[in-house]
Parts: sequence; C-alpha cells; structure tokens
Amino acid sequence: MKDQQLTSLLNQMTLEEKIAQLQQLAANFYEGAEEGGQITGPMASMGITDHMIENSGSVLGLSGAEQVIAVQEAHLRKNRLGIPLLMMADIVHGFKTIFPVPLAIGCSWDMERAELSAEIAAKEAAVSGVHVTFAPMADLVRDPRWGRVMESTGEDPYLNGRFARAFVRGFQGNDLTDDVSRLAACVKHFAAYGLSEGGRDYNTVDLSERQLREYYLPAYRAALDEGAEMVMTSFNTIDGIPISGNVKLLRQLLREEWGFDGVLISDWGAVKELIPHGVAEDEAEAALKAIKASVDIEMMTECYVHQLPALVADGQVDESIIDEAVLRILKLKQRLGLFENPLRGADIEKEREVIFCEAHRTAARELAVKSCVLLKNDQVLPLTTEQRIALIGPFANNGDILGPWSWLGSTEEASRLAPALEARAAAGKVTVAEGSGIESFTEEQWLEAKAVALEADVIVLALGEHSDMSGEAGSRSDICLPEAQRELLQRMKTLGKPIVVVLFNGRPLDLSGVIENADAILEAWFPGSEGGAAITSLLYGDENPSGRLTMSFPVSVGQIPVYYNHFNTGRPLHAPGADKRYVSQYLDIPNEPFLPFGFGLSYTTFSYSEPNLSGEIMTKDQPIKVTVTVTNTGNVQGEEVVQLYIRDISGEVVRPMKELKDFAKISLSPGECKEVSFTLTEAQLRYYHSDLSFSSDPGQFKLFVGPNSQEVKERDFRLTLA
Ligand code: BGC
Repeated sequence: MKDQQLTSLLNQMTLEEKIAQLQQLAANFYEGAEEGGQITGPMASMGITDHMIENSGSVLGLSGAEQVIAVQEAHLRKNRLGIPLLMMADIVHGFKTIFPVPLAIGCSWDMERAELSAEIAAKEAAVSGVHVTFAPMADLVRDPRWGRVMESTGEDPYLNGRFARAFVRGFQGNDLTDDVSRLAACVKHFAAYGLSEGGRDYNTVDLSERQLREYYLPAYRAALDEGAEMVMTSFNTIDGIPISGNVKLLRQLLREEWGFDGVLISDWGAVKELIPHGVAEDEAEAALKAIKASVDIEMMTECYVHQLPALVADGQVDESIIDEAVLRILKLKQRLGLFENPLRGADIEKEREVIFCEAHRTAARELAVKSCVLLKNDQVLPLTTEQRIALIGPFANNGDILGPWSWLGSTEEASRLAPALEARAAAGKVTVAEGSGIESFTEEQWLEAKAVALEADVIVLALGEHSDMSGEAGSRSDICLPEAQRELLQRMKTLGKPIVVVLFNGRPLDLSGVIENADAILEAWFPGSEGGAAITSLLYGDENPSGRLTMSFPVSVGQIPVYYNHFNTGRPLHAPGADKRYVSQYLDIPNEPFLPFGFGLSYTTFSYSEPNLSGEIMTKDQPIKVTVTVTNTGNVQGEEVVQLYIRDISGEVVRPMKELKDFAKISLSPGECKEVSFTLTEAQLRYYHSDLSFSSDPGQFKLFVGPNSQEVKERDFRLTLA
C-alpha cells in the first residue's frame, strides 16, 4: 500500500474506528476466533465492546500460526475497512529456543552471536505469526536488587548501546516488508526504568537531565539509530512526571528532538496508572495526558477508547493528534507488508521445521557457552572424565533454567545439567542428589547428599535463584543465595572435598557464604534451553570460559549502587596522604565491588604489554592509536576481552573514574601473542556539559587498557582543540 492510500484509508475511518486502533488488548480478548471465526470474550468489566475489538489495531501475546491465522482472518471479515491486526509479543531472549537471559548475553561481549540470537528468535516468532517484539530492553542497571536487571545487558551505556543495536539488527534485518522472517523491534522501557529507587520494581526515578542524557538515554538512542520501529514507555516517573504522560520526555525529546516518528506504546496499564501515580483524577485526564505526550497505543487499559471520543468532541483533543497516532500505526502495518499479506510469516507447516530446530539449539548452546563467567578457580576446573562427580543441588537436575521472559520455552525440553554431565563423564562417574530445595533443606536431603558426596572426588553444587526471584516484580532486598543452599554448601565444605559451584540466577548476587566455601564458581545465569550441555562443555574444558561481567557484583547490599564508572569524590579513599577517617568510605566494607565490571577468569592466563600510543596529543583531526600486545601465557587456547577505558582528568562536569570506550574480543592459542589496536578519537571524549551541550574539553586524559575495569595499564595524553 502506498502512502497516499494510507491517507485515504485514514480519511475513511470514523473517529471510533481510529480510536480503536490505539487500543491494545491481550490474546484472551480474541478467544474463539478459531471456532467459526467468532471474536468473543471482551471483558464486560472493562466496558470493551465487540465494536472496539473488531476495530482494534493490535493484539498482545498471541502466537501459534494456526491461532494467529484464525484471529487475523476472523478480524478481516469483521473489520469494515479490512485493516489487519498487528501481533505483538515479548520475544525477549528467544521464542521456543531460549537463549541465555540478556544480562548473560551481555557477558559474552559478542555482538555477532547476540545478533544471531535475535535473528533466530525473530524467525521462530514470525513463523508463529508474531509481527512485533517488545525488545530490546535497553535500560541501564546499577541495582541488582531490581529483578529486571536480567533483562538488561548491564551497567555501561556504551556497551548497552552496542547490544541494543545488535539486537535490533537481528530482529529487524534489512527489510521488514520483504523478509517475513523478521520482527519489528520495540525498544523499552523509555526511560531510565532501571533506576527504580531502592531497586523496588515500578518505583520512583529521579535524576538530573544531564545524567539522564549521559548514562540512561544512549542505549535507547542507539536502538533507534539502528532503526527500531517502536518505543515503549516505562512505568516510572522522572522529575515527578510519570513517563506515559511526560510531554517533555516523549513529545519534546523523543519526537521533536530525536525525530522519532514510529509507534509509541505505553507499558502494560501505564496510561491508567497516571491515576494512582497522582497526576490524573480520572480516566479522562489520564487519556488526555497520554495522548498529549504522544503515546499512540494504550496497552491493556481502556482510557483511550472510553474517553477520547468525548475529549475530541469537547475540543480538548484535536482530532489531528488522533490522526497522527493512527497514521503511525498504519505505517507500521504498511512496512510489515500486512495490507498485502496480513498473515505475513505465519505458516503452520514451516512452524514445525523452524521452531526449536537443531541449528537454533546449537546457536543457543554456543551463546550460553560464551555467556557463562568463571568467577573463581582454585585449580579444580576443568574436570577430567575419570573423576567421580557428586552432582548436588536444586539445579542439578532441573529444567527451570530458562529464566524469566521465556513464556514459550519448554522447561521439560531444556538441557538439564545431570544428563549432560552423565553423557560427558566416563560411565558411572556421576551420581546425583538434590541436596536441598531452592529455599528448603531437610535432614533426609542432607544425609542422601552427604553419602553421594563422600563417594566422589569432586562435588559439583548446582545452586541458585528460582526463576521467579528475578524478572518483573522480582525485586529482593537480600541478594544472597537462599539460606537453605548456603547451609547445604557449608555442610558440604566439612566433607573436605573440592567444591565447584555452578550458579543459576538472574542478578549479580552477594556471594557471602559461597565464595569462602567454594573452590571454583561458574556463573551460568539462566542459560536457556541448552544450558546443561553448555555448562558441561565448560566444566570439562571442551570449551574455555570467556564471559566477562557487565554488572558489578557487590560485597553486600549495603554497597548498592556500586558500579565501575563512578566519580572520585573530593575525598577519595586511596589518595596518597589521605586522612584515615574523613574520606569517602564505609567503616565496615571496602568501596570496591566484590567483582568488578569486565571481570572473568579463563583456564588460561593472558599478559598485557604496556599500551603504546601513536602520540600523546590528540586533536579533532588527529586521533590516537593505542596498541597493546596480549599474550596467552597458559597452556590452552582461550578468548580474552581487551578493554579500553578513559578518564577525563578535568572536565567542566566531574567525569567518571573510568569510561569504557572500546573493546576487542580475541582468541589466542597457547603462547600466541596478538597486537590489538584501538583508534581513540575526539568524538569519543565528548560528554554532556552543564548546559547540556555535547562536546569535549581540552586538557589532560588518561587511558587504560586491561582485562577488566580494575586491572589496567594506564597512559596519559592531552586533547588540544586549538
Ligand atoms: C512489562 C513489559 C512488557 C509488557 C507486555 C509489562 O508488564 O513491563 O516489559 O513488554 O508487560 O508484556
């Protein structure tokens, strides 16, 4: 359909038909479409009528080719103008083939594999009839109490931006019209949802506009620069204004300043939530504020359909505002080719071939391997096939390793650790016991586990959080492993055998009680459908761990927020000659996180040469080339993530102690060395000043190269802007 035809379609629509396009309801409102093509089930309590359903523009969470085809066909029979529905769903880290959770994918520092994971997720979802995914989530996170950190790629704005782009490329491909195996991407949650106070979900956010622009907005922006079709508003307030009614952030910044002309959808119920937030007296005021802020689609509440007709009639809302919103929705349908091809990728036959196929599972396994992070290894790993292994713990033989937002993943079909280890070890070498539940521990469990452990050479303890302990509405104030599992570990320690802990979890944990009792720790996160196989290949050294943390692990919750790119303060702790007391510190714990951003071990070791600079003066036209030689000094092949950070010594605004500017992931054979070069330009030194201008300051800088944000080699340089 051409643009002109879209306009003429819009002109044929009644006001009610237009407003219904702005309503999004869940799949259950469309139940029964298969049987005789009847649309039934509108919820009386919401006052949703058949007419509204027949004219609605999109559906939330419907998939399965057969069902989608039935609903779309039934809809087209009823819809006066034949406008197809958009099928939207949360395809976050896989559809049926589940990849590791995004925080784990972050730890891979692997853009190609991240992109591939999104491409595969799109392929499986598209053949099942989905058109739009509510992903990527590009929220920057610094508080592991917040359960949704597992949906983010971490605490760094630059790295999050790189991942956001990779995911958008993977979901959308190059041409949504012709390539029906792709999905339109909806970047979320705009904006700064990750800063929820106290790590409590849906809570208040407040920060300066400068910080918002510097840390929180770049990853959403990166997704849009990559062409993401849609944006979702977040639940939180900023500066006292809930986002779904925030004219400054949505209409002025997102639309006018950034030029975003795609579809903007509220998060679930967020338009009506303007009432409990306390900025709207009733549904009419909520609808008025949201439409004025340029929210096009209202998800799951019904303020628009009930209130906009009267608001237009009495002149409070100009119909042209509604027209703009509808046109944006129609344009998205046009770009997805839905007018010509309303069933798009939905294909019952192909669904069987594509979904959860071997190639997809292989990709999931490979990404899980790259996402695991080796946190500790006192010469216990890798295991050998001849060792007798006691595999113990609530995750020893558990398929619940897909993590939140894996609604179509099958925990039954997930690769569990026990069978994977049994298949890899020599026959009869692995014995399994539960040891404890996730939050419960009985003497019977202990006695069984103890007997198994006493027969073994090595104990592998598979511990972690239940998948409900993170994700949406999954905030925790205590982020240690549950007491029951710490007790299990402590008792295992008394048996005097080497202990390897494998962790399944959705957030950086407080590892008290784990770190002192384990000889090795492999952080597996929620590794997805192929988790057991991936972990097994790492434990036996068929693969070498290469993941690096993208979110700091705190010493304890008292340190939160703790992140690598913090300020120095006027009274830094480690300054030469500093006072012992009157410095910025805790009396009882260190300032540094337990494990820093960028950290991760390997079965080999790497050494770094001093960084070599092409010059010590940078200008606008003359970047600095930084070269470092990295050598594999161990006995096995391994991958290293070489990280480049800078510090602006004297800014107009205080600059962070370190800022990640680039990285390179390299593979080295034993004894091999490689030169790694980065080109650092003036543009990479720019930041938001107090007047919100984006520029660099001449003067002194440091650059750092190293394996993580703490162990670095540094050099000085100057920027001159004459
Ligand atoms: C979540 C979103 C999600 C939406 C639709 C909300 O509760 O915050 O991330 O996309 O539900 O499922």
